[in-house]
Amino acid sequence: MKKVTISGLQALKAAGTKISALTAYDASFAKMFDEQHIDVLLIGDSLGMVLQGQDDTLPVTVEDVAYHTRAVRRGTSRAFVLADMPFMSYATPAETYQNAAKLMAAGASMVKLEGGAWLGETISGLIERGVPVCGHLGLTPQSVHVFGGFKVQGREESQAAKLVEDALALERAGAQLLVLECVPTALGKAVSDALTIPVIGIGAGPHTDGQILVMHDMFGISANYMPKFSKNYLLETGDMRQAVQKYIEEVKSGAFPAPSQSFE
Ligand code: KIV
Repeated sequence: MKKVTISGLQALKAAGTKISALTAYDASFAKMFDEQHIDVLLIGDSLGMVLQGQDDTLPVTVEDVAYHTRAVRRGTSRAFVLADMPFMSYATPAETYQNAAKLMAAGASMVKLEGGAWLGETISGLIERGVPVCGHLGLTPQSVHVFGGFKVQGREESQAAKLVEDALALERAGAQLLVLECVPTALGKAVSDALTIPVIGIGAGPHTDGQILVMHDMFGISANYMPKFSKNYLLETGDMRQAVQKYIEEVKSGAFPAPSQSFE
């Protein structure tokens, strides 16, 4: 079975084939998603909310992400494994390199950092040291207290223009992948068109190069909560494997996300 690599993901963008991605936190689910041929598995700091029951992702530690990355790596044969750098784990160059090294040693093939142009030197420093980087823009959950809640970003024209500039700056710094969260559909398209690297959306409309969901949202099992941009595939199929299969099919065909799962 051919492993998914960053060049493979870039080839999918070039061919106009959508990239399917899910979060995963343990070996069993990672194996199930991998067997259905998911392209990317993210060990997200969303684990703070969906596994630990925290209100946000801020209490998550590098050790937490490393623990779950080791488990996901053991369950994965094919998918590309991406791990989140938690809140404040990339505040200084020394901390950044040490923490990224822990996640790569745990089995990640790339690390994800939240933020815009200000991350330029951090990203180039990581890449010089052999750590591939994914950016994360839009609703970056580690900044939830700056935003005053989990809110759609980039609705104002000036915010949207800044977000496109930030995306270009991350690509120039060497980021090879971008996650774009909770922005209007038109902005999701503008960012994906402006970049040569793949853009994986979550609540960013149907025109991004791929889609990612938190696995608990895709199964509809997040406690009392279903984000507008998600869909309960377990309710529709009644079986976990079929739910994953349908999610991947709908991402690949462009059926997901529908307008009702996107923002104006
Ligand atoms: O932490 C996470 O699961 C994420 C996704 C929402 C993209 O960053």
